[in-house]
Amino acid sequence: MRGTILLSKSTLNNNYITMVSYKELGLVNTKEMFAKAIKGGYAVPAFNFNNMEQLQAIIKAAADEKSPVILQVSKGARNYANPILLRYMAQGAVDYAKSLGWEHPEIVLHLDHGDSFELCKDCIEHGFSSVMIDGSHLPYEENVALTKQVCDYAHQYDVTVEGELGVLAGVEDEVSSDHHTYTDPEEVIDFATRTGVDSLAISIGTSHGAYKFKPEQCTLDPKTGRLVPPPLAFDVLEAVQNKLPNLPIVLHGSSSVPQDEVDTINKFGGKLPDAIGIPEEELRKAAKMDVCKINIDSDSRLAMTAAVRQVLAEKPAEFDPRKYLGPARDNMEKLYKHKIVAVLGSAGKAE
Ligand code: G3H
Ligand code: 13P
Ligand code: ZN
Repeated sequence: MRGTILLSKSTLNNNYITMVSYKELGLVNTKEMFAKAIKGGYAVPAFNFNNMEQLQAIIKAAADEKSPVILQVSKGARNYANPILLRYMAQGAVDYAKSLGWEHPEIVLHLDHGDSFELCKDCIEHGFSSVMIDGSHLPYEENVALTKQVCDYAHQYDVTVEGELGVLAGVEDEVSSDHHTYTDPEEVIDFATRTGVDSLAISIGTSHGAYKFKPEQCTLDPKTGRLVPPPLAFDVLEAVQNKLPNLPIVLHGSSSVPQDEVDTINKFGGKLPDAIGIPEEELRKAAKMDVCKINIDSDSRLAMTAAVRQVLAEKPAEFDPRKYLGPARDNMEKLYKHKIVAVLGSAGKAE
């Protein structure tokens, strides 16, 4: 059977599982991908997924645009979709990409916000090519120790590891904090050398979810009537990259919260008042610097929800899920392509 390499006792559920290497699945780790992105002045999109329509849309967009892509799975998504199914979906994604004419797909399967060594190990055993260990909420020395433990294990299998320094604000299923603390550039060299991380998520003012800023933090653009959020802390980003040039930097919480999707949701019965994201110009600027992975989840949720709400509102007699999940998938594909082509600059980088 393709992908079978050895039997190992799963740390999480104490069952013997068939360990699978990501290489057997046709996936890649982030090492070369990030080295090329830093050199080329673009960022690789990291799109979260937890269902088939999201995965189809991501792969179609990446294949059509020949963009390297990171398929990102949170702990909550893994619990939702089932780890075994997810593994086969990722394997299927590689073959699907090839069937779309993408000869050499560059696809990473990445654990987003791993919160324990055991979870990271389990993902590596299930074919992930990259894991994040998020110790950002821990005291510094504990973050170092946990991140090093994951790196030491992951690197044996050529799996790459993302760590995090600094705290992002925002609330998600498995990640939450009501305040942010910018990354301290003084800690970066020590953290990177002692842990061996392959990439580092930093905090410069982005945050998770669709409510990244309060209206009172923003100014009003008289031309559009839209709220403009305060700028990201590019001085912190610059200081980090000056400390450790060529360390791949990751930005979480980088959805832009497209106002047309928010308007559609609100028009068709939704209630998302004052949803505000990161302006695209700021992400473009970051992508040209040493930021080589940009995480986007909320925008895909918005694109999906907007399309579903619109179909169900306009066609109340419709009850075939394909009739509303199909348009949702199309809307997400359009969004992913826009990110790849017009924001991150990764189109054509994985021919
Ligand atoms: O940063 C977190 C991602 O958006 C995943 O969110 O934990 O709700 O799946 P989730
Ligand atoms: P958004 O909520 O801004 O999409 O951020 C997603 C993210 O950081 C996943 O790790
Ligand atoms: Zn995140």
